[in-house]
Amino acid sequence: MQKKIAVIRGDGIGPEIVNEALKVLDVIAKKYGHTFTYDDVDMGGNAIDKWGEPLPQAMLDKCVNSDSVLLGAVGGPKWNSVPGDKRPEKGLLKLRAGMGVYSNNRPAKIWPQLADASPLKPEIVEKGIDFIIVRELIGGVYFGKHETNVVNGEKVATDIMNYSESEIERIGRIGFETAQKRNHKLCSVEKSNVLDTSRLWNATMHRLAKEYPDVELTDMLVDNCAMQIVKNPAQFDVIVTENMFGDILSDEASMITGSIGMIPSSSLGKTSCGLYEPIHGSAPDIAGQDIANPIGTILSAAMMLRYSFDMAKEADDIENAVSKVLDKGYRCGDIMPAHNADKCTKVGCSKMGELIRQELI
Ligand code: IPM
Ligand code: MG
Repeated sequence: MQKKIAVIRGDGIGPEIVNEALKVLDVIAKKYGHTFTYDDVDMGGNAIDKWGEPLPQAMLDKCVNSDSVLLGAVGGPKWNSVPGDKRPEKGLLKLRAGMGVYSNNRPAKIWPQLADASPLKPEIVEKGIDFIIVRELIGGVYFGKHETNVVNGEKVATDIMNYSESEIERIGRIGFETAQKRNHKLCSVEKSNVLDTSRLWNATMHRLAKEYPDVELTDMLVDNCAMQIVKNPAQFDVIVTENMFGDILSDEASMITGSIGMIPSSSLGKTSCGLYEPIHGSAPDIAGQDIANPIGTILSAAMMLRYSFDMAKEADDIENAVSKVLDKGYRCGDIMPAHNADKCTKVGCSKMGELIRQELI
């Protein structure tokens, strides 16, 4: 198969981790007789420096016209003083909205080899951590009106959060369908004791539930959910939630699996052209030192093969290769265990990529 992939290396550790993922894709292409072509896209801080804006229209067009997009990470302290609507992150939001990828899928699954790296007590980890957060990605407060005005001599900032029934319905359906493919348990997370958007969310989810009788729907308030994720993560199968709650809960969920550096994500809309990115940020403090963990990005590339290109065998191959490298005790700094570290070998970003590729050949 021939596929055109738009590649956004981004800022900070972005270029290093994407580089490793592309080399993995090259090995897969050769092994299975595919042709992957890469179209470089500037986005984030580097695009601000080069083009004066975080995602020029021509760059967005390249993404929309590709078969899928692979992204490293964007942002960094260099652009902290840039006005809000010109920040690197704004490029990412424009990309998500421009591609129409409303459904962000963030798995929280513990690799057995990394159980030691989880900050949770072993008796909690042993019960299993394997759930998915389905996060609404192009609505809510991220995309509402943002403004700061002077009222009665002081600054007043406003961020509007709104959700229409149809926006909730389309992500709700993804939640139910994801649960149908797994253990048939869906937890809808909101703050319906306070927010109108959450009350509409709750009502919509319960209306939809009638169409999915094989899925057990439960509701949970977001503050309780934050607590339950560390207290008893084994209770979750699929969580569906709005944009900002999903942003926060997915960082928490990644941490209990050992490290945010391991977690890939897919974002999909109406077409098979998806956006694939690790859920971590650009980590400017460790950029350029060859110590970042490329696994989140490599697993994102695997998700791209699985969900956008229908290449399940190839995706399994990459995931198995990662597992074998972990079996052999190789770890990047972020996944070194707190105890028994002498049983592991600490490696950098390029070495980790190379080890994974060796398992694929
Ligand atoms: C994420 C990130 C982004 C978000 C930032 C960089 C805008 O935290 O993908 O989770 O909040 O969505
Ligand atoms: Mg986040």
